[in-house]
Amino acid sequence: MPDKKDNASILVVDDAPDTLEVLQRNLSGRGYRVLTATSVDEAIRILEMETMDLVITDLKLPKVSGMDLVRYVRENLADTEVMMITGYPTVEGAVEAVKIGAEEFLAKPFTDDELFAAVQRSLDTLNLRRISKAQVVSQLDNLCGLIGESKTMLRIYDNISKAAATSATVLISGESGTGKELVARAIHYNSPRSTAPFIPINCAGIPEGLLESELFGHVKGAFTGALRTRTGFFQAAEGGTIFLDEVSETSPAMQAKLLRVLQDTEVCMVGAREAEKIDVRIMAATNTDLQNLVKKAVFREDLYFRLNVITIHVPPLRERGDDILHLIHHFASKYAQELQVPSPEFTSKAYRALKGYTWPGNVRELENLVQSVLVMTSGREIDVNDLPPHMRFSLPGSTSQGKTLAQVETEHIQMVLNSVDGNKTQAAEILGIDRKTLREKLKKVGDET
Ligand SMILES: Nc1ncnc2c1ncn2[C@@H]1O[C@H](COP(=O)(O)OP(=O)(O)OP(=O)(O)O)[C@@H](O)[C@H]1O
Ligand SMILES: [Mg+2]
Repeated sequence: MPDKKDNASILVVDDAPDTLEVLQRNLSGRGYRVLTATSVDEAIRILEMETMDLVITDLKLPKVSGMDLVRYVRENLADTEVMMITGYPTVEGAVEAVKIGAEEFLAKPFTDDELFAAVQRSLDTLNLRRISKAQVVSQLDNLCGLIGESKTMLRIYDNISKAAATSATVLISGESGTGKELVARAIHYNSPRSTAPFIPINCAGIPEGLLESELFGHVKGAFTGALRTRTGFFQAAEGGTIFLDEVSETSPAMQAKLLRVLQDTEVCMVGAREAEKIDVRIMAATNTDLQNLVKKAVFREDLYFRLNVITIHVPPLRERGDDILHLIHHFASKYAQELQVPSPEFTSKAYRALKGYTWPGNVRELENLVQSVLVMTSGREIDVNDLPPHMRFSLPGSTSQGKTLAQVETEHIQMVLNSVDGNKTQAAEILGIDRKTLREKLKKVGDET
């Protein structure tokens, strides 16, 4: 927990060397670890490499204002507090700074005691937030490899622990590669069923004709080729959990059978006369909007309600802020170990490109990318040119505020390209330009990065 005894780290940003020196001396004297920067750009470079507990920034800085740094920290660093100092105190300035997320606002001249008190208040706030995070995570014995500290992930950990305490059916929704199966595993392995099997079944991957006997088993002679009686996944999962992945892909006949299992807690082997009672928890996942399929009468409404007792939505990676960087670090060291190469450093430009990318394939895409980049670079520093072209020109942030027209254009082109899987002909058509113009624009951007 950050307080001065544990060397809380503070980044001080001011363009006046005297002020910087005084602040650094005072704060270091109190036992804090202090780094300094003289511009917002330099501060951001440091923040991309180092986790700081507190940023103290002057409002008036050359080129980019301290207000933008406050905004950057709030949008990107959930685990860092910000404090603003200024020699030109105005009510509007203070209100604006606090509104966009500065924890404290200190007007010059201030005494050492005022400074220390404000720093301590900021770190106390941070402590409080961290305690609640630690509490959420400590509810779980086993995170099953889930990485992430964003608010989104904290909410998911909380949902996991609540779902684990019951035996209710869970429906997990989210784009492909967001971690739905990991969430299901985490629920199972934190539940009283954890010593019984967790069996994932990809409903789209088993041919329709086989699915029923795979799930429920069959008796000898039930169909041509059924030479022996064989149990199915449901019997094998007794006492545990069955995870039905891509449940929207099941046929109407299968949906009717699943509904019976959920209603009566019994399954009937193919060819058997009588059903048998089972004790199996069911979880299901979908990456399409199941409710929409219900409206279109492609998915049974009664089954939807039976599955949807507890709903957990896993948001896309691009909405999880700094988790992208945590995941990059995690997979970089995992694959570096596997390849027996040193864990690579990423340049700040490479980080920016990765953070700004939209990740349509979510965590799976990120994992594959880190692995393949590591193979190509074998442990040396990874720069933006080591990334695939479609990631090189992704820029952070989703609003156009403060951006040049060229930046907004580039981001828009990138977004459209992503939406059509990089198909330039389709992208050019959507953008209303010809392929040649698109190629030239891309080339120009590629040259600049
Ligand atoms: N938060 C996370 N932390 C660490 N690894 C993760 C996280 N989320 C997903 N992964 C990894 O990403 C990959 C995809 O995850 P998973 O299979 O759970 O996604 P999914 O949502 O079920 O995808 P699909 O819809 O394609 O089935 C796996 O290798 C998983 O380990
Ligand atoms: Mg899955």
